[in-house]
Amino acid sequence: MCGIVGYVGDKSAVDILIDGLSHLEYRGYDSSGVALMTKNEINIFKAPGKLLNLIQTLRNEPKEKIDSNMGIGHIRWATHGLPTMVNAHPHCCNCGGLTLVHNGIIENYKEIKETLIQKGCEFKSQTDTEVAAHLIATEYGKCHDLKEAVSNATKQLRGAWAFCVMHKNEPFNIVATRKNAPLIVGVGDGENFLASDIPAIIKYTKKAIYLNDDQIVKVTKDKITIYNPDGTLANNKIEYLPFEPMALSKMGYKHFMLKEIHEQPDVVRNILQDKLKNEIDKIVLDDIKLNCEQLKNINRIQIIACGTSLHAGLVGKYVIEELTGIPVDVEPSSEYIYRTTIADEKTLVIGISQSGETADTITAIKQVREKGSHVVIITNRKESLLARLSDSLLHVNAGIEVSVAATKSYIAQLLSLYLFAIYTAETLNINSDKVREIKHELMTLPAKLEGVLANTSKIKEIAKKYSSYKNFIFIARGINYPTALEGALKLKEISYINATGYPAGELKHGPIAMLDETMPVLAVLNRGRVYDKVMSNCEEAYARQAKLIGVANYIDEKHQNLFDDYVLIPDISDMVSPALNIVILQLLAYHIAEYLGKDVDQPRNLAKSVTVE
Ligand code: M6R
Repeated sequence: MCGIVGYVGDKSAVDILIDGLSHLEYRGYDSSGVALMTKNEINIFKAPGKLLNLIQTLRNEPKEKIDSNMGIGHIRWATHGLPTMVNAHPHCCNCGGLTLVHNGIIENYKEIKETLIQKGCEFKSQTDTEVAAHLIATEYGKCHDLKEAVSNATKQLRGAWAFCVMHKNEPFNIVATRKNAPLIVGVGDGENFLASDIPAIIKYTKKAIYLNDDQIVKVTKDKITIYNPDGTLANNKIEYLPFEPMALSKMGYKHFMLKEIHEQPDVVRNILQDKLKNEIDKIVLDDIKLNCEQLKNINRIQIIACGTSLHAGLVGKYVIEELTGIPVDVEPSSEYIYRTTIADEKTLVIGISQSGETADTITAIKQVREKGSHVVIITNRKESLLARLSDSLLHVNAGIEVSVAATKSYIAQLLSLYLFAIYTAETLNINSDKVREIKHELMTLPAKLEGVLANTSKIKEIAKKYSSYKNFIFIARGINYPTALEGALKLKEISYINATGYPAGELKHGPIAMLDETMPVLAVLNRGRVYDKVMSNCEEAYARQAKLIGVANYIDEKHQNLFDDYVLIPDISDMVSPALNIVILQLLAYHIAEYLGKDVDQPRNLAKSVTVE
């Protein structure tokens, strides 16, 4: 969370910084700020709330204060301290000579703060970041070299950071560094850039350098010098950036979320065209580096992920176990980290992350790598930190996802898990009938998704009817249990309505106590193994006068009266149904939030990349 940018060149720094920040708003929107170097003075402008507030602040400033060719900018997702003006970045030392922006958390900031206070530093904010500003300034006082000062100061820090730092005595360069937080250097012609992520700079350059942990970079308009942690010069290679600016347009949709929901048939089609051309040929996953011998050696699989990616992992468990017979555990990364976990070279670990930046998942994956497990990463960002920690990579290729609520990346993760399960079964030469059936069903998926998306009037009607309810329960069983969890998460995230997903069979073990006419129950029913069981659970809810909403591919006549409302989806096999059912729940959440006038793409308190543990 938090986004940082830096610019040095001949153009107007403020314009480039603001434009860059506007493409990083998915990382946080609690406050924003810029620091501009002007004739050996640093001018800082900040505003609480969305970037628009900063833009308005800057409009009222005299031209000479913002006329600058070098600066740094920040967009904040608050961790330490309220989302106020005083806590907004950039932060500076007491004399105002040094200023910096930070993404991450400094874990030992309290100890350092005490020492700095004893030395006479005065703190204005409640942030951990301000500690870094005072500490680097103190080090600068000893060596009078910003790069040295950053190096000496960061050696005293614990935690995660990406910093961009300026000092008024070095008016032609920015110094930056990172550890466990993203930062790229954009390589321009007579200008250079720094940013947390590609969208901030893609308009200006397609060339970038990725920094390793603890490397320090000194950036002037003509030169980029990278130093290793031991002070030696580094030679990181220049890479070509994958994004087109077009991907960041809403293309006529009211929100990115709606656009991204509607992109799902194409996302699935692209993946299939690329990797699953027909039902007969074995699929080829080029970046999966596991052959038959290695797969035979695997006796368990652990899937680690957070949020929506975790729900994809739960679907993956059903599919992988069904097709391969290998036992699969799924766990939130944040839980995996701080307990004794059993993983070794016979364990295959799959990390799933849309962003490839999630701190909990990165920490967990780093841990398992030390145990010798083969690590497969499923991500939408093949250049991400997590991707770089993989032994095998599955790039889900959903295209950039802007809306904070994940939609198309979820379906792409599901597809990747299906493909991985098929790949494993085919490589092991087992379950060929099941494999063929799933392949067949997957190939029908894009058309079925299109069918669902072409006819959303019933979903809109339900959304309007139920938008005033304060609580929801989502139920399902088997492979659609994760669908219930994901549907409830979508509703919570963007409408702030309390929604909980349960395995339908668990309803009677407690949650049923909450049911009455004020508690709508949404049931996902798919004709297959558990259809009758879920229908019985719907009967139980009906008997408690709960309003019942069905999402089903079939409801027989005798059961139709149970439901106050239902949406019918095209017929689909149990195994592949999560990829179709979820679209109804995404749309329902979207239209409820939209009807309530919520900030759909940037819901309160959230950020797209969660780079703190
Ligand atoms: O980038 P990741 O997939 O690792 O992110 C994990 C979660 O933070 C993310 O899925 C979050 O739950 C989304 N807001 C879901 O819509």
